[in-house]
Amino acid sequence: MFTKPGLLARSLELRLLVPLAITIAVALALHAAIGYWGVREELRRFIKADLARSTSLIRSATHDGMLLNRLDEVQSRIESLGSSEGFTAIRVYAKDGRIALTADTGERGRVVPITSDECAVCHVNGERTGPKVLRNADMPVLGDGHEGQRALSVIMNERGCSSLECHPPASHRPVLGVLDVQMTMAPFDEAISRARQQLGTTTILLIMTAGLIVALFIRRLIHEPVERLHEGTRRIAGGDLHTRIEVAGHHDLAQLAGAFNGMVNDLRVAREELAEWSRTLERRVEEKTRELREAQKRMTRVETMASLGKLSATVAHELNNPLSGILAYARLSRRELSELAIEPGAAAPIDGYLALIDRESVRCGEIVKNLLVFARGQSVRTTMASINEIVENSLMLVRHHLEMHRVRLEATLLSGDPTIVAERGRVQQAVLALLMNAIEAMHGLKDREAVLRVRVEGDDERVVLSIEDTGVGIEPELVPHIFEPFVTTKGETSGVGLGLAVVYGVVHGHGGEITVRSTPGAGTTFTLWLPRRRAEASIEPAAGEGVVPGARPQAFAAETGESCERGGA
Ligand SMILES: Nc1ncnc2c1ncn2[C@@H]1O[C@H](COP(=O)(O)OP(=O)(O)OP(=O)(O)O)[C@@H](O)[C@H]1O
Ligand SMILES: [Mg+2]
Repeated sequence: MFTKPGLLARSLELRLLVPLAITIAVALALHAAIGYWGVREELRRFIKADLARSTSLIRSATHDGMLLNRLDEVQSRIESLGSSEGFTAIRVYAKDGRIALTADTGERGRVVPITSDECAVCHVNGERTGPKVLRNADMPVLGDGHEGQRALSVIMNERGCSSLECHPPASHRPVLGVLDVQMTMAPFDEAISRARQQLGTTTILLIMTAGLIVALFIRRLIHEPVERLHEGTRRIAGGDLHTRIEVAGHHDLAQLAGAFNGMVNDLRVAREELAEWSRTLERRVEEKTRELREAQKRMTRVETMASLGKLSATVAHELNNPLSGILAYARLSRRELSELAIEPGAAAPIDGYLALIDRESVRCGEIVKNLLVFARGQSVRTTMASINEIVENSLMLVRHHLEMHRVRLEATLLSGDPTIVAERGRVQQAVLALLMNAIEAMHGLKDREAVLRVRVEGDDERVVLSIEDTGVGIEPELVPHIFEPFVTTKGETSGVGLGLAVVYGVVHGHGGEITVRSTPGAGTTFTLWLPRRRAEASIEPAAGEGVVPGARPQAFAAETGESCERGGA
């Protein structure tokens, strides 16, 4: 089972701090212990040296008195020395173990056994071993609760002493007695205790200070950078790739932070590129979808126009002969009616009916003719023509309408070569239809000026004619159907809805294109491209062309004066 690791296991700072602190504490404690031991030994040596010095001082101070056997004087000197600080006992033992002289007068005359420590300078287990000197011998704890130091030194019989008369009984003895000097270790113990206390306090303070400094260093050098790295990873995990981890210096963690920043930067760039790619992809998918939709619409429009073209061509060809017959028989009837011997008053209404049939047949013939132009059921013969001339002629024809509708004309013709290979009459018919539509669209404008802008441009491959007006514009839902035959908003009396169908047929019949851009309430621009055909050629049929087998347009065309026969059936 997973258990959450403890704080020590989790925190890098603690994992470093604890062993370091323990190491420092142990090192400082060891250092303090060694120092304490050294001081203690040094002091002990000093006390021992002091004891030796004091012993030799006592010996010198009492030397003369002893030599001259002035024991009272020696006694009083020993007493006076014994009252000095640090001395716990100054004794002189006689050869028989009796305390002959002492700083503590109460113990004078006391005899120590021969096996005692005092006698061990000369006797081991009661047997004489010969004189020797014991210095700085350790003594058991003294009565005041402190350890003491003791120096036992043999008082030898000197030549000066043994030759004197003062104490002849001693003259034959090599050893006169033993000087016993004892000093308390109380001052030493106090100094040692003070030193221990000071050392202890200093060591604790040092451990705490060292621990604090180490903790501060670890915090500054390890904890803070690691914390910043940690915080940075948390921010990145949260999606913030603009984050930067600032760790000053050139050490490992600073380099790690630098590498980390580099990685985040790469990650951000990669993410931005990815986002950009996905945006571009989305955009391109949208563009392609739009293009596809447009292409689909165009296809549908082309198909519609093609079907309409077929239908128109069929209807036109089928109507052409009956219409020719009606017109021919109406005229024949009028002629024969005029030759009949009938009263003019009685024949007039019949003649009027026949004249009406004649007029309406001609009108129907016009419609049939235009349908044929839209359908391009016939191929046409082209010649060299000037687009400038065609446009100028067309403008001249509509001049009267321009003046009538108070339309300002702005015309710019092609400055370079205006030549195109086209069927002049058809192109002029198309330009006229467009000009008339534009003028009619500006009829009765009140809120703005009526302006007609006609512009011809071109390059080596084609000429571009644009006709712009500031008229009423076309509703968006009508635009896709604008070139279909019989689409009109002008009512039955003023428009048939064949003008733009004719334009479409002419333009496509010449291998060109036509587009319309319109804003309702602002105006419309028709732009048509016509290729410059250098060589005279038969223009390929467009919508519905060649689908009218056996069409016979000549009979009706002759009547209407139109050049249907120019292209041939
Ligand atoms: N410049 C234009 N400004 C506004 N609407 C236009 C413009 N040109 C054409 N239209 C619209 O397109 C319709 C079709 O035009 P089209 O020329 O084919 O037929 P029409 O002008 O109505 O009749 P006609 O057969 O006499 O030309 C028009 O009824 C009109 O609504
Ligand atoms: Mg029209």
